[in-house]
Amino acid sequence: MSVHCILAILILVLTHDDQVYSAKIMGGHEAVPHSRPYMVLLERNMSDGQKKYCGGFLLNEDFVMTAAHCHAKSYKVLLGAHNVNSNSEIQYISVEQAFPHKHFNDTSYVNDVMLLKLRTKANFNENVTAIPLASHDNGTLPKSCILAGWGRTDKNSKYISPTLMETSVTLIDNEKCTMENFYCSQGDTGPAEGDSGGPLVCEDGKAFGVVSSAVTPHSGGSDIYRYSKIPDSRNWIFSTIGNAMIKV
Ligand SMILES: *[C@@H]1O[C@H](CO)[C@@H](O)[C@H](O)[C@H]1NC(C)=O
Ligand SMILES: *[C@@H]1O[C@H](CO)[C@@H](O)[C@H](O)[C@H]1NC(C)=O
Ligand SMILES: *[C@@H]1O[C@H](CO)[C@@H](O)[C@H](O)[C@H]1NC(C)=O
Ligand SMILES: *[C@@H]1O[C@H](CO)[C@@H](O)[C@H](O)[C@H]1NC(C)=O
Repeated sequence: MSVHCILAILILVLTHDDQVYSAKIMGGHEAVPHSRPYMVLLERNMSDGQKKYCGGFLLNEDFVMTAAHCHAKSYKVLLGAHNVNSNSEIQYISVEQAFPHKHFNDTSYVNDVMLLKLRTKANFNENVTAIPLASHDNGTLPKSCILAGWGRTDKNSKYISPTLMETSVTLIDNEKCTMENFYCSQGDTGPAEGDSGGPLVCEDGKAFGVVSSAVTPHSGGSDIYRYSKIPDSRNWIFSTIGNAMIKV
């Protein structure tokens, strides 16, 4: 029972628009403009007509990776953005097809990953490019991890944070996280509403995880933030991309 009770706060915080929660990426600071050219702001068109937001990141000119719980009726991606209100150089591309992981569990959030195939190719330039993915996990936790996102600052603001924010996080060893193929962090800094789907970037500037959800430990203590492990999803990522390209 206690195990199932703990999956909580951040999923609500990250996904419910009416949640009163004012935070940017918590404990973070503004990113140097365009220092993370793989960052994607994902605009989600919900079936009730609302717009919501998630993060994401570019894998190549055709595919964006995000979280499966960021699913929507249709999507638009914003590339090359820093301040989303100064639309000068931003590329807006709609999504042709979404590929949520077929074993995504919307109770436990296991396999919280999704690929989005863009309708037209991203135009790569100094502000728009892909991020390499981490390869196999050798059993040690990756170090020097950073999160970035446009996590909401104000309940009424149209976009979440106008500028891209970032923060560093330290991964923790946690048996349940390992069992469910998550990297986890705990502490004062972490993702907030609207940061779901963004990358966990660690050693060598590679993407190791996808911002997923948080749990409140039943034993007390601060929330544990969870990131879907990319090394465990590589086969799924490459086969999904391969199959999608063949079908075109
Ligand atoms: C959102 O859905 C509406 C109604 O189906 C459609 O007209 C609009 O183009 C969609 N917007 C995006 C960003 O997909
Ligand atoms: C990249 O961003 C900088 C700073 O906003 C801008 O001056 C430059 O024109 C952008 N480059 C491209 C190719 O969009
Ligand atoms: C999804 O997760 C819940 C909670 O951990 C579990 O009870 C359920 O069996 C899982 N569903 C599937 C299809 O694996
Ligand atoms: C695992 O890889 C990391 C670098 O990614 C390295 O620092 C560490 O020493 C490696 N551990 C083992 C047991 O090989």
